[in-house]
Amino acid sequence: MEETFYITTPIYYVNAEPHLGHAYTTILADSLSRFHKMQGKRTFFLTGTDEHGDKIMQSARERGEDAQEYADRVSRQFRELWPELNIDYDRFIRTTDPDHVACVQRFLQLVYDNGDIYFGEYGGYYCFGCERFFTEKELEDGNCPDHQKPPEYIQETNYFFRMSRYQEWLRGYIQDNPDFIQPERYRREVLAMLREPLDDLCISRPKSRLEWGIELPFDSGYVTYVWFDALLNYISALGWPEGEDYVRFWPAAHHLVAKDILKPHAIFWPTMLRAAGVPLYRGLRVHGYWKVHEEKMSKTLGNVVRPLELRSKYGLDAFRFFLLREMQFGHDGNFSEEGLIGRFNADLANDLGNLFSRCLAMTGKYFGASAPPHPDDLDLEREDEELLQLGRDYLEKYLQCFEAVHTAEALEWLMEFVRGVNKYIDTTAPWSLYKQGYTQRLQTVLALALASLRRIALALRPVMPDASHTMCEQLGLDLGSLDVDLRQECSEWVFLSEGTRVAKKSNLFPRQELKLEREGAGEGKHASGQKKNKAGKEKAESKQGSESEQTPEIDFTDFQKLDMRVGRVEGASPHPDADRLLQLEVDAGEGYTRRIVAGLAEAYSPQDLVGRHVTVLANLKPRKLRGVTSHGMVLAVHGEQGLSLLAPDQVVSPGDKIS
Ligand code: MSP
Repeated sequence: MEETFYITTPIYYVNAEPHLGHAYTTILADSLSRFHKMQGKRTFFLTGTDEHGDKIMQSARERGEDAQEYADRVSRQFRELWPELNIDYDRFIRTTDPDHVACVQRFLQLVYDNGDIYFGEYGGYYCFGCERFFTEKELEDGNCPDHQKPPEYIQETNYFFRMSRYQEWLRGYIQDNPDFIQPERYRREVLAMLREPLDDLCISRPKSRLEWGIELPFDSGYVTYVWFDALLNYISALGWPEGEDYVRFWPAAHHLVAKDILKPHAIFWPTMLRAAGVPLYRGLRVHGYWKVHEEKMSKTLGNVVRPLELRSKYGLDAFRFFLLREMQFGHDGNFSEEGLIGRFNADLANDLGNLFSRCLAMTGKYFGASAPPHPDDLDLEREDEELLQLGRDYLEKYLQCFEAVHTAEALEWLMEFVRGVNKYIDTTAPWSLYKQGYTQRLQTVLALALASLRRIALALRPVMPDASHTMCEQLGLDLGSLDVDLRQECSEWVFLSEGTRVAKKSNLFPRQELKLEREGAGEGKHASGQKKNKAGKEKAESKQGSESEQTPEIDFTDFQKLDMRVGRVEGASPHPDADRLLQLEVDAGEGYTRRIVAGLAEAYSPQDLVGRHVTVLANLKPRKLRGVTSHGMVLAVHGEQGLSLLAPDQVVSPGDKIS
């Protein structure tokens, strides 16, 4: 049977312009759709806009626009933005689309006929911003906790969906099907909600109060509550109940949402489906929130991040890569341009870009830019076998993590592989094989390196479609006929055909610097980041290990060139190749962790170091220490008792400057 995959994003309200948060969910969905497509599955990727309800009506009114015109205008902004971010959706649905409206009415009628919708009176505190009633307990000092405004008391007759009837069934279902809601913390949150009595859901609004909605099929005096309308987009888009797409894709449905809309997706939606006798979706995947410089993104704070601005400053691939690499799925992530640049320079410019450029340059120099013959199994040496193994293991992990939507871990495995290939090149030293005339060995090494590049290029395709395309072109891969099966690519080694013409040069990811145009929010932080980068470009002139008497005098301006700051060790492990060295992952307040290789193993074990504050020289040029690149230095004292870390004796935070 044909394998399918169906992925959806929330449909976004049209009362705000698209920003980083919307872009993240949609880019993530796009990358998942591409990832599954590359495994031979037939995929359907749905996104769109949610256009009915009080909130939209009010925003339209504030702007003096008609609700439909207003919705058309903002919906278009979303629809037109996505292709600019290389987002390749299959359908963009609007809740004002006639087929959606018909589907909502049909669904309501069905549930009504089944006896799960009743008419009743209700009085309660209603927040227009949230479009829902609040209990007194939920209010903070009488205010809506989100909008900090007092809700209005409203008493009216309405239609209710008998949601409470499905509470026990849903609890059992979630308990028996651990994969239904993931990550686990959100599954537990939903189970906790279901331990409290569940109220029935008010699913209508009288037209006397709100006209902007879908009319109830069984009472023309009412429109449908916006959530009951919006959730149905996931099946209306497929042509429920008879549509071919519905039959094909609904059994493989995965919804991607952030934590803000967990309850409607984890409780309203499954109970609605159950009441209508529609099978449940396969999985709900819930991510955290992007903050900006650790603060909530909001218009009032003036820190709303616009995706197109970032694209034009740093390039689309850098933006997509950063979002998927940085956000630990399920947790909140922190967005900063410094963080983006840091990741870009560390992973893409230093590790991946450098690997491509050195391998292609060597193929150019030693083999006239044509791929050498495939190695014979019998010719393989220990390093080669190790690289093959690494390629299999790490890429398998890449696939597993991607499948589970843990893209940050997936990309970390892929970058580990990149670093492994860089190390392989350092150890096998093709330049000396060339000098010594070991041609056959040189062929083997470069054939393996190029096969590694091919894998990396293909594995990155769901994340960075453009860069992956360029990498494939540089490797002389015939893109037209390249029908890739990602699983196969990751488990079997595919060599470039002998004689394939590859590019002589590659400059995929030139190092980037912060580009600051905006004034205002976060200026202080930006300014220090900028200084750091500028300083980073200048040559560090420190001399290591020399005695103080021999040290030349320096000017104060020389001292100012040193970017010394407090770092916190987030992770530590032994260096794979040197007993004296440890590899540290250090948070130096830049929004990402940097890897620093330090000669501390004689005095500290990795466990001793995790969680400790250290002094970091941050703008030391990256250098390789036994095959691992170190981005900075950790300072220590060589005292009589041995080695001891230089650390502040007061409470400090990562990134605090040392002067
Ligand atoms: N219209 C409803 C969804 C109906 S789905 C049947 C809605 N719209 S929304 O415009 O408010 O979008 C919320 C979604 O936008 C989040 O669930 C998330 O996907 C995305 N994000 C908005 N801000 C975000 C962040 N700051 N960080 C990450 N994602 C966020 O709710």
